[in-house]
Amino acid sequence: MRWWRECAMGHPLKKSPMNLSPNQFSQIARLARDRWGLHLTEKKISLVSSRLASFIRKSGYESVDSYLSHLEENGSEEDMLVFFDLLSTNVTSFFRDLAHFDYLEREFYTPLSRGNTTLPGREIRIWSAGCSTGCEPYSLAMNACESLSNRSEWKISILATDLSNSAVEEARAGVYERQQLEKVPNEIVRKYFRSVPGQSGQIQVSDEIRGMVKVAQLNLMDSWPMKGPFEVIFCRNVMIYFDTTTRRDLVLRFHELLRPGGIFAVGSAETLSGLKTPFRPVQASMYTK
Ligand SMILES: C[S@@+](CC[C@H](N)C(=O)[O-])C[C@H]1O[C@@H](n2cnc3c(N)ncnc32)[C@H](O)[C@@H]1O
Repeated sequence: MRWWRECAMGHPLKKSPMNLSPNQFSQIARLARDRWGLHLTEKKISLVSSRLASFIRKSGYESVDSYLSHLEENGSEEDMLVFFDLLSTNVTSFFRDLAHFDYLEREFYTPLSRGNTTLPGREIRIWSAGCSTGCEPYSLAMNACESLSNRSEWKISILATDLSNSAVEEARAGVYERQQLEKVPNEIVRKYFRSVPGQSGQIQVSDEIRGMVKVAQLNLMDSWPMKGPFEVIFCRNVMIYFDTTTRRDLVLRFHELLRPGGIFAVGSAETLSGLKTPFRPVQASMYTK
């Protein structure tokens, strides 16, 4: 639509978006792939352009080129994390893909509650890899509390990792907008959340649930400091940003860290088929070792 027609219809004139040149975009894509495994295709050019444009306007860099040269030549780790935040997507929600939580209740916690277990100790270790702002690991903690009838006999340790500065910070605080809990049953909200004094629109995960979750910053492409085995690993809606080779390498590393018989989940729109890994499917987007 021509700009004068937009004006005639009463729309404000939009500022023309900054468009990255093909060279700039491939420089960004190379950095993102080498450091974080992100596979940015040309489809992402307008998204990356608009995020970068608003960052450049606020940050005081003269141009995209000067920002990219700074990153390449003397960008600190902190500069790189700011750049990662510009490129990554943190969309998440509580009890996302409910079928995964139902599966854990039915196939993992119910047998444990009945004493039907081959676990050597009384600890259950779970890893939420790419946990974003924490909805996923806190949902896993609530799911465990709700599903285990003999909860007090178990120590449940949930490791929640993400690379994004802002996501890790939010996950640690465990404070959310009330709207984010609209789809969560009231009974669960009452049991596991509490009001934030002076902030009527916000709500915080209870101390009990937060105490089960340890949040840490981790680039999945780096070496991992923690040791296995985990009983459950969730890496959902993270590997969609990686290419096939990176995805396969990562899945094999998850496989190594999982206890035999353990459960691995990817996002509901993802699959491991075609990756040739030793995982065995148990239901859509869920696997066992
Ligand atoms: C769309 S969110 C998924 C959140 C959650 N797992 C869910 O399904 O609701 C993807 C997350 O992956 C994280 N991520 C992407 N690449 C990563 C990497 N190389 N290392 C660690 N985290 C990464 C992003 O920061 C983002 O928070």
